[in-house]
Amino acid sequence: MIAVAGGTGTLGTRLVPCLAGQGHAVRVLTRDPARAAHLAGPGEVARADVPDARDVAKALDGAGTVISAVHGFGGPGGVSPASVDRAGNANLIGAAARAGASFVLVSVVGAAPAHPIELFRAKHAAEQTLRASGIPWTIVRATAFMETWATIMGGALQASGKILVFGRGDNPVNFVSATDVAALVELAATDPGLRGQVLQLGGPDNLTFNQVAALLQEAAGRTGKVRHVPRPVLQAIATLARAIKPALGRQARAALAMDTIDMTFDSTAARRPFPGLPNTDMPSALKELLA
Ligand SMILES: NC(=O)c1ccc[n+]([C@@H]2O[C@H](COP(=O)([O-])OP(=O)(O)OC[C@H]3O[C@@H](n4cnc5c(N)ncnc54)[C@H](OP(=O)(O)O)[C@@H]3O)[C@@H](O)[C@H]2O)c1
Repeated sequence: MIAVAGGTGTLGTRLVPCLAGQGHAVRVLTRDPARAAHLAGPGEVARADVPDARDVAKALDGAGTVISAVHGFGGPGGVSPASVDRAGNANLIGAAARAGASFVLVSVVGAAPAHPIELFRAKHAAEQTLRASGIPWTIVRATAFMETWATIMGGALQASGKILVFGRGDNPVNFVSATDVAALVELAATDPGLRGQVLQLGGPDNLTFNQVAALLQEAAGRTGKVRHVPRPVLQAIATLARAIKPALGRQARAALAMDTIDMTFDSTAARRPFPGLPNTDMPSALKELLA
């Protein structure tokens, strides 16, 4: 049985039906089983809050492979990269070891101990915990999901006719479709030949957020006003929200980093061993999302 923590997310909802369609027994871990109602057909559902070690141990009972596609970037409250990506993944890895399961960790391209984005530091910590665990592992690192950002930016376009761009929006970022990442995670989970490897995946293009905003308007057939949140405003939010709204502070710091540091990626070499993997471009992902 393959247990998928994060099976209800953007990636998970694409991954779970693929695994079930290949004949694998799948168990989706979620904090709220109602969120997994649409997945109850392809898989069984287990309630688990990953920072709770007892929840996790119960939910992973009988698992042969565990996939972690969770993250705690957006909060709220105590939900954070520290509680979900560090502590939660440590619980999942520990319980997988006791169950004798192999482990696939979904991480981020650029995960590093001194990265300016807290999530990237927490993903690095989870990668280290997994490597030290002694269980068979595969790490899948992905760049930013097209669907996640199109939903954030497109939601504002639908609601207010405006598209929000954080910062200047002229820094190129690599975007990959969650559908393509799901296909690689499926391979990682089902091919024992991929154990002990770090697989990185990006999409075909490095795009600025200004370019994404233009593509989104084209796909939606709707012209909206592009509103930039200036860097000094992001800086002020990053500092002021730290104590009272940590998730907001985290998002502002991440937005500043994405507007300033190198977020490009060339996945030509990484894709070479997987010629059958889809390589969706942003216009196609937007078309599918809006359909
Ligand atoms: N989105 C991106 O741009 C991006 C880029 C690179 C890598 N990734 C990685 O890809 C994976 C999937 O991301 P996504 O964007 O698909 O996620 P998402 O749509 O934001 O969904 C987050 C998932 O995490 C689960 N989760 C969060 N806190 C949890 C907790 N305390 N206990 C149990 N489950 C918890 C949620 O489950 P419930 O709400 O059902 O409990 C949900 O399924 C993550 O590991 C992420 O770091 C994402």
